[in-house]
Amino acid sequence: MAREAVLRGELQDEDQAIASLRPHRLSEFIGQEQLKEQLRLYMEAARARGDVLDHILLHGPPGLGKTTLALIIAAEMGVNIKISSGPAIERPGDLAAIVTNLGPGDVLFLDEIHRLRRNVEELLYPAMEDFKLDLVIGEGPHAQSIRLDLPKFTLIGATTRTGLLTNPLRDRFEVVFHLDFYDDSELTEIVRRGAQILGVKITDEGAHEIARRARGTPRVANRLLKRVRDFAQVKKKPVIDREIAREALTMLQIDEEGLDELDRKILKTIIEKFSGGPVGLETLSAALSEEKDTLSEVYEPYLLKRGFLQRTPQGRVATERAYRHLKVEYPKARETPLL
Ligand SMILES: Nc1ncnc2c1ncn2[C@@H]1O[C@H](COP(=O)(O)OP(=O)(O)OP(=O)(O)O)[C@@H](O)[C@H]1O
Ligand SMILES: [Mg+2]
Repeated sequence: MAREAVLRGELQDEDQAIASLRPHRLSEFIGQEQLKEQLRLYMEAARARGDVLDHILLHGPPGLGKTTLALIIAAEMGVNIKISSGPAIERPGDLAAIVTNLGPGDVLFLDEIHRLRRNVEELLYPAMEDFKLDLVIGEGPHAQSIRLDLPKFTLIGATTRTGLLTNPLRDRFEVVFHLDFYDDSELTEIVRRGAQILGVKITDEGAHEIARRARGTPRVANRLLKRVRDFAQVKKKPVIDREIAREALTMLQIDEEGLDELDRKILKTIIEKFSGGPVGLETLSAALSEEKDTLSEVYEPYLLKRGFLQRTPQGRVATERAYRHLKVEYPKARETPLL
């Protein structure tokens, strides 16, 4: 639950504390090399033309750096950024108030853009395409439609679920970036950087131990680093080495694969209550008393990525790897015949 809350941004305090670890420049942003290379090029080209940057869609699992990138882009372009989110914009008028306050070249960052209301989204289409805002003023027979000119701006949309974006909205983004999980060496660097900012000493092995259990996610790496730091402090260890990191992570019930209690509970439930699956998301979320979205957006991507889980049209299936990890015998009948 705790990690889920952190991942979903509910633990504002912790997120704010972690915010001090947020990179502010593209050069400080670790990993996602291809994305950075393309982004650098687009920014340079826009700057050289004296033009605004094209609209950018960022998608990928929580905690991989979407918000961070949006802030970095605004900083690198030397423009202001206004931040809002799909669910926060309740009426077309709310969006109108936001976009009419943008300055030329500013960035509008819309988080959870897949959750925009329909009528708000439709207002966004001409705003993105032609920098025009179509407003209806008044009601009934006196209703009047007016078209306002907006300054050219850059919309940066973020979503954990591209699948839920409507086609007309997706098509209006000229640039689409997918953020993928980070590898161990990138996360090790992120942990080392975090330790430096926090002023804690850490060995390379200590950083690597935290990194490899951070489920490919910078936000988790930073959070684990902080918990390990607390542990080391209480144990009066001046340096975080591999052993201290291992002890602390064991205490946090983060296993060798970086799975936590709920990850294991998900796999265990599929195996024990549903004979390994397939089981539908709805049924699984009821059995676990966890929200569907949390399961599918926060937990499943990493379990899928690491091959513990499979999504089939019939539902979720625990893989042989999941059985082995939980030390449950894999049913013979499930094994794929060799011939
Ligand atoms: N490439 C990176 N290098 C260093 N730190 C990073 C990187 N990406 C993310 N972080 C750290 O991870 C934290 C989470 O990143 P961020 O808030 O940008 O994720 P997000 O993709 O917007 O997540 P969500 O989908 O939950 O909104 C940041 O505070 C930042 O400190
Ligand atoms: Mg975010």
